[in-house]
Amino acid sequence: MASFNTMAGCFLASALFAMVVGKVSNALVSVHPLEKPAIAVSEAAPEAAAGAEKAPELPAIGPKLKDANVDRGKQLFQQQCFTCHTIDKGGVNKVGPNQWDIVGRKKASHEGFSYSSVLQKLGGEWSYEDINHMIFKPQGFARGTKMAFAGLPKEQDRADIIAYLRSMHDQPLPPLP
Ligand code: HEC
Repeated sequence: MASFNTMAGCFLASALFAMVVGKVSNALVSVHPLEKPAIAVSEAAPEAAAGAEKAPELPAIGPKLKDANVDRGKQLFQQQCFTCHTIDKGGVNKVGPNQWDIVGRKKASHEGFSYSSVLQKLGGEWSYEDINHMIFKPQGFARGTKMAFAGLPKEQDRADIIAYLRSMHDQPLPPLP
């Protein structure tokens, strides 16, 4: 006749066995349903991350700078950017930081301006191409930036403005970075 202990032992053992089988079969079953969400998450991740995101459809601006019109760029800067940015050497920060020597300047580095954390995290210097992306669509390039500017869809406008920015420097960088 089985003692109570033996019966309890049997019961525990089979309960354990059932648990293990349950876990294993859960694991086996869940492999397939998990596959899709895991891929979807990794696809969404780059979009969710803040930081420099170049619009893939934007052609390089560098080759267009040679023929850009600096005077027109100056006019456009006054119409589009001057509300928020001065550009004279030593000029004050307004809503946005002063733009003197912006081409080649370390990002988010102008003295006395309080940059958003998004801009601080970009890293590197302002190349022609990065400025091109920034003024094409600030929220696309630096999601969460406090530069409240819709962007300049016309390539010629961006080329002329960037050519003007380039000229506002003690030693303008070569036209091609
Ligand atoms: C409505 C105000 C506003 C307008 C208009 C505007 N900006 Fe800005 N801009 C800002 C602000 C604010 C920042 C700082 C962004 C941050 O910290 O997130 C900024 C940052 C920048 C930076 C980065 C500066 C640095 O020191 O890293 C560049 C380059 C720039 N703007 C260029 C332009 C150009 C060129 C135009 C015109 C086509 C323009 N902006 C129009 C407000 C503006």
